[in-house]
Amino acid sequence: MNDIDRKMKELMEKRELAKHGGGKERIEKQHKKGKLTARERIDRLLDSGSFNEIGMLVTHRAKDFDMDKKVFYGDGVITGYGTINGRLVYVYAQDFTVLGGSLGEMHGKKIAHIYDLAIKSGAPVIGLIDSSGARIQEGIDSLASYGEIFHRNVLASGFIPQISIICGPSAGGASYSPALQDFIIMVKNISYLFVTGPKVVKTELGEEVTSEELGGGEMHATISGTAHFLVDSEEEAFELIRKLLSYIPQNSMESPEKIDGTPSDRDLDDIIALIAKDVDNPYDVHLLLQAIFDRDSFLEVFKSYAKNVVIGFARIDGYSVGVVANNPAYNNGYLNSDAADKIARFVRFCDAFNIPIITFVDTPHPVAGKEEAEKGVVRHGAKIIYAYSESTIPKITVIIRRAFGGGYLAMSSKHIGADIVYAWPTAQIAVLPPKAAVEILYGRKLSEAEDREALYKAYLNEYIEKISNPYVAAARGYVDEVIRPGETRFKLIKAIESLVEKKALEPWINKKHSNMPL
Ligand code: HXC
Repeated sequence: MNDIDRKMKELMEKRELAKHGGGKERIEKQHKKGKLTARERIDRLLDSGSFNEIGMLVTHRAKDFDMDKKVFYGDGVITGYGTINGRLVYVYAQDFTVLGGSLGEMHGKKIAHIYDLAIKSGAPVIGLIDSSGARIQEGIDSLASYGEIFHRNVLASGFIPQISIICGPSAGGASYSPALQDFIIMVKNISYLFVTGPKVVKTELGEEVTSEELGGGEMHATISGTAHFLVDSEEEAFELIRKLLSYIPQNSMESPEKIDGTPSDRDLDDIIALIAKDVDNPYDVHLLLQAIFDRDSFLEVFKSYAKNVVIGFARIDGYSVGVVANNPAYNNGYLNSDAADKIARFVRFCDAFNIPIITFVDTPHPVAGKEEAEKGVVRHGAKIIYAYSESTIPKITVIIRRAFGGGYLAMSSKHIGADIVYAWPTAQIAVLPPKAAVEILYGRKLSEAEDREALYKAYLNEYIEKISNPYVAAARGYVDEVIRPGETRFKLIKAIESLVEKKALEPWINKKHSNMPL
């Protein structure tokens, strides 16, 4: 064998070793848990053959705790770039078969490098997380690397989209980095996201808790509001990423792609019938969204969290839009603390990435009892007003039915920056809903009345007559047009077309940044 052949052989051997991660036994263990390996994940996520690896031969340089005997090429993370539907993306996939996917100095540097390249190229970053957190043996060096990653998560925030799939444990630092990103996808039964795992919780707090209770997908998607999506399998997660990216541009300087739109095959009759039957009918707003937006185009975000509001991406005549809607079918469509967080964060994401927002309003007057008050509903609620007010993307609002008090103002009203506001003839716009208003206004007179019931009905009817329509608001120009429900799709398309080139006015150019209520 000549010198060149020897050198080639050496390279091929190193590559082969790198491809085997933590070794055959650990790979089998990974498969037995129903999990793919890091390389299998990248292969299935990206367009076939598009992956280019960076840093395959990186190794750690730790010596203590027998680390000099545990050196693996790649240091437990596979990093590089490739394409999804032809679009450039940067990826990193942590390899649980190597030291539990723990993040040491060099492992972290590889991820930070991917971030630097993604920011320079203006392309999304996708993290495939399967990690036990900071590598204990590397101490401060691993913490330092996490700090480098967190810093880049924040620098990149609002400039390039960042999405993580949690495909195994995501402990400690491995949980905070996804939490700083735009979207977290969790996979049922295999992903766990927590500050420390159950073993450490038991040792430190003496608390017995399962991984599922502490950080399972179901918990994060329904209770903590940390996981934006919960899927059944890794394959489903990859498919979801491909769909999600289709609504989002590469970076904040670009606009989302416009495609040919296909009208929905559903009509609005069901919704109109439900509303007509009873003004308090708790219809499911999904029916409305399915009828208005392009066929099967609605991608719901936070499906199981704060279900009293519905948010997600959709297309209308092929335009990508963000959708925010109260859902009367759950908790009467109230705006509570969780709903406020859900809406505000989504509006800010859409604003950062030039995605117009369409808001559908049907919410009772916000009423907060002790629990919500203590949770900080005032502080959380303020976030909705803040997010809509500071956003500069096209904003179109449709008032379907109830728009009372703070609910009216916060849900993208004209007063806080909506560009165009439509209302259905069924809209009710007032400070308080009828019963509450009559009790407050005429409480004394009613208590003194001979026939309380008759007087109450008379006051109620008078109030309803005055507020149960959108015409007072239309007379003042706060509603731009009262439309028939059947016109909604057409009107929204025309509004989007007219606003697509909207330029943001930024009168406060000397301001460093605003101070939103967090
Ligand atoms: C180095 C680790 C490790 C770690 C696990 N391993 N955690 N190595 N650093 N943090 C190693 C194990 O020794 C084992 O090696 C292999 O990874 C697999 O771990 P197991 O425990 O056997 O796997 P499993 O039973 O599936 O449990 C996975 C786990 C558990 C739930 C992630 O390992 C765990 O609880 N680890 C600690 C998680 C944690 O609390 N991390 C937080 C770190 S603090 P061998 O050689 O035996 O296969 C942190 C702070 C950052 O991250 C800053 C935050 C702001």
